[in-house]
Amino acid sequence: MAGTLKGRHLLKLLDFSPAEIGDLLELAGTLKANKRAGVTGKTLAGKNIALIFEKPSTRTRAAFTVAVVDEGGHPEYLGKNDIQLGKKETVADTARVLGRMFDGIEFRGFSHETVETLARYAGVPVWNGLTDTWHPTQVLADLLTVTEAFGPLRGLALAFVGDGRNNMAHSLMIGCAKMGMDVRIVAPAELHPNPALVETARSIAAETGGRVTVTDSIQEGVTGAHAVYTDVWASMGEEAKIPERIALLKPYKVTRKMMEMTGRREAIFLHCLPSFHNLETETAQKYPEICEVEDEVFEGRWSRVFDEAENRVHTIKAVMVATAGR
Ligand code: CP
Ligand code: NVA
Repeated sequence: MAGTLKGRHLLKLLDFSPAEIGDLLELAGTLKANKRAGVTGKTLAGKNIALIFEKPSTRTRAAFTVAVVDEGGHPEYLGKNDIQLGKKETVADTARVLGRMFDGIEFRGFSHETVETLARYAGVPVWNGLTDTWHPTQVLADLLTVTEAFGPLRGLALAFVGDGRNNMAHSLMIGCAKMGMDVRIVAPAELHPNPALVETARSIAAETGGRVTVTDSIQEGVTGAHAVYTDVWASMGEEAKIPERIALLKPYKVTRKMMEMTGRREAIFLHCLPSFHNLETETAQKYPEICEVEDEVFEGRWSRVFDEAENRVHTIKAVMVATAGR
């Protein structure tokens, strides 16, 4: 046990030690088993939790809501058109007001600076439900899913294939390095991760026994991988870049051939979702080449994407119980 996390914010995994991340994953596993057995807690009884969303969400909103209710608390959804944030009121003022009324605040939005400012002024724990820069609660769910498939994380290889400079690539690179994993970011040179963050991840890996590789070679990146991970090619707010991203990332689409290239029959496929894996959505009909993964992989034996989605609730619950629970 790394010690108490009471009162802590979760803005990015860089701020947490490997032992703290390990504790959160262990707690998430316990909470998951309890929930399966029909047992939920009361650690948030009498507590009110604000859920601020500037961007849309299915999983993160649902996971925070269910997790708060499971623990006996009250979640309040505050959408971008419901509150004054940024339009008529500063982030610092909003933080001080909500901090007087709520016992914890989740924020999803564009600028990472916004969630940092909320944390600075709120006086209660603030949790990042995704910004343009980081998506830490997603990585906790991803790590739980990997450990459920393969056991202890240290030494396991995860290849992120796609937009190597987005919030997921950066968050996974740091999260996996912290846990002593062999993390590979596989992307065309134009979409390689922020070099300063790669350096940070490498210095973390030097301490934890992990490894960080950035490559444009699919062969180099996925050979030996236990998990192949991808995300959409254009993140929320980047819709205008879709044609350019399709041109860059088409060769990096996750295919059966890529899964077989891992050389591991037991290799798993992960995706934070939402995903374009067929042409059934409005956007995919407009851009038929947008699919970052073949339907055969998404629906195939490799895929753990719905375990991963379910794990959002258990890991988010662990974060709230540990930082704001009784
Ligand atoms: N993975 C994820 O964050 O999904 P939502 O955008 O639906 O919350
Ligand atoms: N990179 C994606 C992640 C969605 C969960 C986005 O920011 O839109």
